[in-house]
Amino acid sequence: TLAKDTFIIGFSQATTTEPWRLLFNQEARSEAAKHPNVTLLVRNGQDSVPKQVADMEEFIARKVDAILISPKEADGLTAVVNKAFNAGIPVFVLDRDISNDHYTQFIGGDNILIGRTAGAYAVELLGGRGKAKGTIVEIWGGMKSTPAHDRHNGFWEVVSKEAGIKLLNKAEDGDWKQDKAYEIAANAMEAHDRIDVIYAHNDPMAYGAYLAASDIKREKDIAFIGIDAIPGEGVMWVHEGKLDATFLYKTPGADAIRQALMFLQGKEIDKRLTLPTQRITSKNAKDILLKHKLIKP
Ligand code: FRU
Repeated sequence: TLAKDTFIIGFSQATTTEPWRLLFNQEARSEAAKHPNVTLLVRNGQDSVPKQVADMEEFIARKVDAILISPKEADGLTAVVNKAFNAGIPVFVLDRDISNDHYTQFIGGDNILIGRTAGAYAVELLGGRGKAKGTIVEIWGGMKSTPAHDRHNGFWEVVSKEAGIKLLNKAEDGDWKQDKAYEIAANAMEAHDRIDVIYAHNDPMAYGAYLAASDIKREKDIAFIGIDAIPGEGVMWVHEGKLDATFLYKTPGADAIRQALMFLQGKEIDKRLTLPTQRITSKNAKDILLKHKLIKP
């Protein structure tokens, strides 16, 4: 029989509130546009698990050729991902994982490594290994999502080795949102006169914390660390001196389309594809912005 040569790919996106998500959609769309035989259907889960489950059910009912999903949270989306996979639809889980591996492939950054790298940076800021001293407030991303846990675990694996470093707050869920992080940071600053580092699980939340501090003129006393490093967002904030560091979290948009097509064309693909990261501080932020023509030489 002849291989099928036109494909409908459904993409269930968790939300579009962060610029990172818009870039992710854009990268998936522009990669798909290079292939005239591909139709990409994008659905926005609007940060709601029931909405995202309904989007997945729509793709299953339509019998699309492949599904890409970046799940809002792990537990609430696992059953519907497994249902699609068991119905014979190739499923690509992107950025946030589910609770088992009954899918075709996972593509995303190594969030444990990112957490460790951020932790090593915090230790450096606070005086270096064995000598570090200071206080940290951590602002979690969505507590039900895998990147938040990995970013926490990697960070504390490194930082907890330092007897002189103290975590000031209990795990607080900022749900990846700037405004929630603003509140968490404002409350932490009210409770503590001295905070040396605020580690937030993404750049929008690190920026929310920065705004809360600058509103009460404490931004100069605190180092803000985020994750994502979108040039026009986190990298720009580092360049402007608002964030101290951010760590690249590439979107899996383009790779997801390429991997899905390879699979649909009968090629073998890996079970997991891990995307690279990079540390961005005031040392390299400018070069990145110049490269993206976001500032003038
Ligand atoms: C966007 C986002 C990113 C973060 C990723 C984690 O919704 O919060 O900022 O890196 O999701 O899954």
